[in-house]
Amino acid sequence: MSLKGIEMPMVGLGTWNTVGDSVKASVKTALDLGYRHIDTAFLYDNENEIGEVLKECFSSGSLKREEVFITSKLWLTHMGKENVRECFEESLKRLQLDYLDLYLIHAPFGLKNTGNWCLFPRDSEGKLALVNHDIIETWHVLEELVSEKKIRYIGLSNFNSKQVERICTKMKYVKPYTNQVECHAYFQQKELLEFCKARDITLTAFAPLGSPGRKNVNEDSDEDDLKVLDNEVLKRLATKHNKTPAQIMLRNLVQRDIRVIPKSSNPIRIKENLNIFDFQLTNEDMNDIANIDIENRFFTFDTTAPHLVEHPEYPFNIPF
Ligand SMILES: NC(=O)c1ccc[n+]([C@@H]2O[C@H](COP(=O)([O-])OP(=O)(O)OC[C@H]3O[C@@H](n4cnc5c(N)ncnc54)[C@H](OP(=O)(O)O)[C@@H]3O)[C@@H](O)[C@H]2O)c1
Repeated sequence: MSLKGIEMPMVGLGTWNTVGDSVKASVKTALDLGYRHIDTAFLYDNENEIGEVLKECFSSGSLKREEVFITSKLWLTHMGKENVRECFEESLKRLQLDYLDLYLIHAPFGLKNTGNWCLFPRDSEGKLALVNHDIIETWHVLEELVSEKKIRYIGLSNFNSKQVERICTKMKYVKPYTNQVECHAYFQQKELLEFCKARDITLTAFAPLGSPGRKNVNEDSDEDDLKVLDNEVLKRLATKHNKTPAQIMLRNLVQRDIRVIPKSSNPIRIKENLNIFDFQLTNEDMNDIANIDIENRFFTFDTTAPHLVEHPEYPFNIPF
């Protein structure tokens, strides 16, 4: 018998950069408003709090387990095949769940496992301690977890087309369900979307609003001045449809058949981000948005670790 559950909703709640009571309140608000997908990760350090909210909902009867789609991600220190299960089981425990709906490899490059859950280990020179694991071996452990009915779907995050292809050709019996990547109006991922679609793999957009609240991610870059939500085309379309620029961005992605996981800790914006199914962008609107793409990646991951680009699995050294 397979695990029961819903398909992955087109809109989910992102939870990066929100912890403690704030994440509890956001998740509770989102579930009350009708969100049925919560995106978290071992890295975000908020699985305990999300687990508490879920437990309250399940035990009060306001939600059944199979009515909500929970995604978490394997952290990079645990990509070695002998470490995958430890990280997965810890996430499951923190979330107080028996199974996950979706589990992603957070990124294709590995970090050293120091044995004490250090998230960003350093080497003797103070540099981020990178290691290279065979991503196929990591994938095979995730496949085992699916066959043991501990995960419904498995997928990738921040993988480039060649890495996706490698998983597809070397997998044993479970293909990737999704590739979760940065995607928004200034970084539209047109080629990667087509590539994944051709292999029947969905694309999930992280930073679907251009991540206006991100801190210290690209701190040395003047890209921080780029506020996608301030774009004039998006503002014009917002006025035309009586929506906000954020809703235009999310609707554009959903109409491209891309799942979105906007993060908000504000009840009004949490509601706003789900309220995108009562209008439609025309072909002309969609073309106008396609034309503002400047292929600007905000999340390069190398600003605090420049040597990361030399890692054999660093995903962003090829066009897509
Ligand atoms: N796989 C990966 O490597 C990876 C990387 C990054 C993110 N993610 C996932 O993707 C999720 C989304 O990405 P993100 O959090 O970086 O960026 P995002 O969802 O594009 O943007 C979130 C920011 O936008 C603000 N915001 C939310 N709704 C808004 C609205 N309607 N109007 C104006 N501002 C709004 C939020 O502030 P308020 O909270 O104040 O509303 C927050 O500062 C994350 O939370 C995480 O779950 C995954």
